[in-house]
Amino acid sequence: MRIAVIGTGYVGLVSGACFSEFGVETICVDKDQDKIERLRRGVIPIYEPGLDALVEKNTRAGRLSFTTDLPAAVRGADAVFIAVGTPSRRGDGHADLSYVHAAAAEIAAALDPDDFTVIVTKSTVPVGTGREVARIIRKTRPEADFEVASNPEFLREGSAIEDFMRPDRVVIGTDSDRARQVMRALYRPLFLIETPMVFTSLETSELIKYAANTFLAAKITFINEIADLCEKVGADVHDVAKGIGLDNRIGKKFLHPGPGYGGSCFPKDTLALVKTAQDHGAPLRIIETVVDINDRRKKSMAGRVIAACGGSVQGRRIGVLGVTFKPNTDDMRDAPALDIIPALQAAGASIAAYDPAGMEEAARLIPGVTWAGDAYAALRQADCAIVLTEWNEFRMLNLNRARGIMNEPVIVDLRNIFNPQDAEMAGFTYHSIGRPG
Ligand code: UGA
Repeated sequence: MRIAVIGTGYVGLVSGACFSEFGVETICVDKDQDKIERLRRGVIPIYEPGLDALVEKNTRAGRLSFTTDLPAAVRGADAVFIAVGTPSRRGDGHADLSYVHAAAAEIAAALDPDDFTVIVTKSTVPVGTGREVARIIRKTRPEADFEVASNPEFLREGSAIEDFMRPDRVVIGTDSDRARQVMRALYRPLFLIETPMVFTSLETSELIKYAANTFLAAKITFINEIADLCEKVGADVHDVAKGIGLDNRIGKKFLHPGPGYGGSCFPKDTLALVKTAQDHGAPLRIIETVVDINDRRKKSMAGRVIAACGGSVQGRRIGVLGVTFKPNTDDMRDAPALDIIPALQAAGASIAAYDPAGMEEAARLIPGVTWAGDAYAALRQADCAIVLTEWNEFRMLNLNRARGIMNEPVIVDLRNIFNPQDAEMAGFTYHSIGRPG
């Protein structure tokens, strides 16, 4: 089988590499000539564990290739995956579909009318997009033999390959039997490991993706509010999470409290679904509230640090551990650090920070920070240490050593990576989220 994947962002590149690993001949397409040249040389534009090896292996095997020539990639493909960006539209929060629509028109122009092709939306796209893609293609090429399908991706940054290869489920939305057969054939290796396949309509599939992300965002927001309550009443949020999560109806995952969710998906998708729901006169009041609480939460986190420093950070030095929105990624999109660090700077603090992968991008986004070579260098002479991302290497920090090089023994751990007793034993005043003490 042969596929083309349009767009070599996170979803496109990971999906393309993984389909080629399944044995599918895969051509990844991007307009960015420079990016394509680099991918051909095996240079991966994102930090994602295991992706470089997968790309290298399949490129060498001749199953995976990269091009800027969209028509050549589309001609002869059994399926064409649209995996271009759908950022928040400036001003109104709707998903910006201009890249999807442009890709649909270009694909249409390139289709071979004698070959049946399935056009698949893999990007997160609002309900109705699949039908619009079909309309664009039909208008451009009335004679083309094609069907559309929606196949949302549920992979997480940092564990993208494992998530693609061993998903909880695969969702495929289409009205067409022929398209269903092609999709079934592409995902054959997952059938063999008994992955549940949810076949549904286009609209339902498109909504499943948004409903999944907004539900998870709501779950995180719920535990964040419970964590705040725990602090007031002297309860431990981790025990609460465990105590409720063992109920299978609730589930253990995504109950870890923190500074508020970030990243390239939850903030954008919650907002886009809120807009879609309002447009259809069926407002999602829970998700509207989730968006509002999460925005406020990220903004309020600097206040916690200031309180931990005795009410002022004027002239204080703060050592920041981690700036990316989560570990194992270099992605800074909507990272809580983007709210917290500038707010501390505005309150008069000087910031030294270290992140294993995100510093280059962060330096572009947050001026005035001293970027350190490792965690200890970020903490040297600091009056307070704050943990913003739960990278494994921070969990292994030698607290006694950290205590020895800091000015004041204060930690504000917004990811709860340390054991409060260990931090206190090392002589720290330790502040975490939703735990007594
Ligand atoms: C998310 C979804 O988890 C994926 O299923 C989905 O495919 C993806 O969006 C997408 O739509 O492309 P991702 O944004 O990579 O994946 O990362 P998550 O692991 O979901 O984390 C998102 C945010 O929630 C992070 O800021 C993280 O720190 C936060 N989070 C997550 C918590 O604060 N607590 C938790 O218990 C879990």
